[in-house]
Amino acid sequence: MDTTAAPTRPPIHIIDDQAAVTDVVLDAMSRAPNARLREVMESLVRHLHAFAREVRLTEDEFEFGIDFLNRIGQATNDSHNEGVLFSDAVGFSTLVCLLNNGQNGTTETAAALLGPFWRMNSPPTKNGASIVRSQVPGPALFAECRLVDPDGKPIADVEVDVWQASPAGLYENQDPEQVDMNLRGKFRSDADGRISFRSVKPAGYPVPTDGPVGELLRAQQRHPYRPAHLHFLCFKPGYKTLITQIFVDDDEHLETDVVFGVTRHLIGDFAQGAGDAPAADVNGPWYRLTYKFVLEPGEAKLPTPPIR
Ligand code: BEZ
Ligand code: FE
Repeated sequence: MDTTAAPTRPPIHIIDDQAAVTDVVLDAMSRAPNARLREVMESLVRHLHAFAREVRLTEDEFEFGIDFLNRIGQATNDSHNEGVLFSDAVGFSTLVCLLNNGQNGTTETAAALLGPFWRMNSPPTKNGASIVRSQVPGPALFAECRLVDPDGKPIADVEVDVWQASPAGLYENQDPEQVDMNLRGKFRSDADGRISFRSVKPAGYPVPTDGPVGELLRAQQRHPYRPAHLHFLCFKPGYKTLITQIFVDDDEHLETDVVFGVTRHLIGDFAQGAGDAPAADVNGPWYRLTYKFVLEPGEAKLPTPPIR
């Protein structure tokens, strides 16, 4: 017998028990040349493993979770993005938004989640014109917005994309009663940094609940409503693209938005008009929204549209 042979060491990548698996996975991923990929994936694995340990995830729950993820993918198509909706409904979209705006999450910001209904190429529309392209019920709304830099100086030539649901609670692409691009328009700020347009006062609406996210909301006894709002995307090279939503100040769901999009900064001033409306064809109540958008210097870039 050869007594001089070195003692055999157990291979370090053989997993002995649940406690050992995390380090072996982290080691396997540690040679990725892309440093950011390494950082993100290592953290994801550490937190994912810690989560399973914390809740003592059962095999049935694991199977359910994988099926839930698969069904999110299957429920996603050209006109609906269940993945974005899931991220929204667990507050993740708002968290990422607030981490990346307001000087990387250190100051207040007027940014908010994009949501699943932004469309590229909404119709260029002159200041003062209407985005009501097919008849929808509801009080008239006259919006007057200013675009300024952090010092309060007006910014001209900002492209401002606006989109909203009808007072019936549906975006045009969800509703055969509305023409293509109804309640959508793209404006350009004038030399004083102003845009203005006419619309209808938005109403709150439920997010789609016929997929896995709806199932989750019902299981958690959560209502599916978003408070009434208008969406804005403000774009100009040299400034960080501002994506946001302005909420109607008297909406009953401001504090319980199903997708956690409301921050204090985003509650608009929707003043009920007194006296004659700014347009002769308005008979009935009308509202005026005034809002000031502050753009931070930074990179202008457009998100990938969640739907086509
Ligand atoms: C929206 O405001 O359009 C929206 C945002 C998140 C989920 C569903 C809808
Ligand atoms: Fe919306």
